[in-house]
Amino acid sequence: MTEKRLLHNIALVGFMGTGKTSVGHALASLLRFRMVDTDELIEWRAGKRISVIFAQDGEPRFREYERQIVVELRRYRRTIISTGGGLVVDPVNMESLKSHALVVCLWASPEAIWERVRHQSHRPLLSTPDPQAKIRALLAEREPFYRQADVLLNTELRSLREAAQQVAYQYRLARERQSSHENSHSSARD
Ligand code: S3P
Repeated sequence: MTEKRLLHNIALVGFMGTGKTSVGHALASLLRFRMVDTDELIEWRAGKRISVIFAQDGEPRFREYERQIVVELRRYRRTIISTGGGLVVDPVNMESLKSHALVVCLWASPEAIWERVRHQSHRPLLSTPDPQAKIRALLAEREPFYRQADVLLNTELRSLREAAQQVAYQYRLARERQSSHENSHSSARD
């Protein structure tokens, strides 16, 4: 990361069930940041649950909500932004997040993801006869997009607290690098 970046926030991206919400809350209290969740912001705006948006208006409408919300996130400061699992499949969304946040992708194997989501029923994309196959297919399809994140973190072998500490560490490191990069540029201009 050598170009000039503003790192006001941390955006957590990654597949459903990788721990974005839980790690996000732990991280927010560790850094004393605010926490927002793009799915919640969409539900407030639409006045209905994500599953109802998918059922009544379709996935394309849901993705439009996501794009709108992402634009508005640029104004945020000192915020942990937990994103819906498909949000960064649109490269415009990834680029926008990177303009104000360190983007951290949480990662887990399809098996670990299945263990975490199997007793939950609120995810429309997994309401299919073979959700495990869907997880494997979607994860493979999205992997190249998730790999565009600044930091990739496997949450499978880490406790919530360890994962949050690791993200906080990476964030401090990135900010330090950023300020030393700025200093070396200003002294080069002097
Ligand atoms: C989605 C993930 C969900 C939610 C929606 C679509 C996806 O968010 O945005 O159901 O495309 O992977 P979580 O990743 O928070 O479950």
